[in-house]
Amino acid sequence: MKKILITGASGFIGSFIVEEALKKDFVVYAGIRTSSSKKYLTDSRINFVELDFSDNEGLIQIIKEHKFDFIVHNAGLTKAKKKEDFDIVNFQYTKNFIDAIITSEAIPEKFILISSMAAIGPGDDNNTIPVKSTDTPHPDTLYGLSKIKTEEYLKGTKLPFVIIRPTGVYGPRETDYFVFFNTINKGIEPYIGLKEQYLTFIYVKDLVNVVLAAATSNISGKAYIVSDGKSYTAKEFAVITKKHLNKKTIKMYIPLFIIQMIVIILESVGKITDKVPTLNKDKYNVLKSRNWLCDINDLQSDLGFKPDYDLDKGVEEAVAWYKKEQWLK
Ligand SMILES: NC(=O)c1ccc[n+]([C@@H]2O[C@H](COP(=O)([O-])OP(=O)(O)OC[C@H]3O[C@@H](n4cnc5c(N)ncnc54)[C@H](OP(=O)(O)O)[C@@H]3O)[C@@H](O)[C@H]2O)c1
Repeated sequence: MKKILITGASGFIGSFIVEEALKKDFVVYAGIRTSSSKKYLTDSRINFVELDFSDNEGLIQIIKEHKFDFIVHNAGLTKAKKKEDFDIVNFQYTKNFIDAIITSEAIPEKFILISSMAAIGPGDDNNTIPVKSTDTPHPDTLYGLSKIKTEEYLKGTKLPFVIIRPTGVYGPRETDYFVFFNTINKGIEPYIGLKEQYLTFIYVKDLVNVVLAAATSNISGKAYIVSDGKSYTAKEFAVITKKHLNKKTIKMYIPLFIIQMIVIILESVGKITDKVPTLNKDKYNVLKSRNWLCDINDLQSDLGFKPDYDLDKGVEEAVAWYKKEQWLK
């Protein structure tokens, strides 16, 4: 049986990769840190490995000891308390990890890097042309910059790799889209900006299937954007959510300039307190982009990807989970 190491195993996506890898009979090593929650890692077949990505020697020892067949590097920051944290965790720690694997000479059959569509950046606001994996990267967030920098570093090494660039990932256990579901559940249907916004999504279980298919495929040296292959307007997202929550709502439109003003104020306060506010310039850039469409033709042709979930089916299952777990009441 093949050994797979999944870093960031305690998180939303990582915990689903662990579950699916167990189903597919891998010997699963969950890469966590001392402080990580094991709430979603209760299966007795899971082997735990504590990883400190700042400790090169420690990483080398662990990799030499276990000689993993596959490594999925999923650990990463999507939000940061300090701006420099994106570069430290997403880039420098990944670089340390990659360097340690190479030094250990225990090269896995495949190293999967969980990057993000943000590494490429959104499409043009003035049209609805989807972003392609081969487009010239133009990230407009510190998060996206840290991801593309990491991708570039990986491409310069001798590791056999596949880069996975998910668009917005949703599903059970997820906490950001949950804020939207919860707002709708409270009877408010929020819209940021007055112009139509085009969105793309991938249900976490479909993403996980892509990750494991890419790991075991004979493809190497490629990067794929991952979505369910469809496009949705912000309004369609709200309609689907309202349907599954069985809610009537009041629409609330917040013009972008108001959000921008709030960001300026919050970031000024943040400079004094040395903390990045939740609503910040990065978040504003994500919210303001009208075109998050993406093209997954390469993923379909290379890996034969056919999603099991569209947004309707995925939201239905996610909402059912949030209700069961009493996140939504
Ligand atoms: N969610 C999305 O929509 C989305 C979209 C595109 C790409 N991604 C990428 O997918 C990956 C997983 O994201 P997620 O949504 O599952 O986020 P998440 O729930 O916040 O999980 C992040 C994971 O990374 C670990 N981690 C964070 N900082 C770390 C550090 N300094 N050292 C070691 N481990 C660290 C966390 O460990 P602790 O539990 O100990 O904090 C956690 O297990 C990330 O690389 C993210 O950039 C996510």
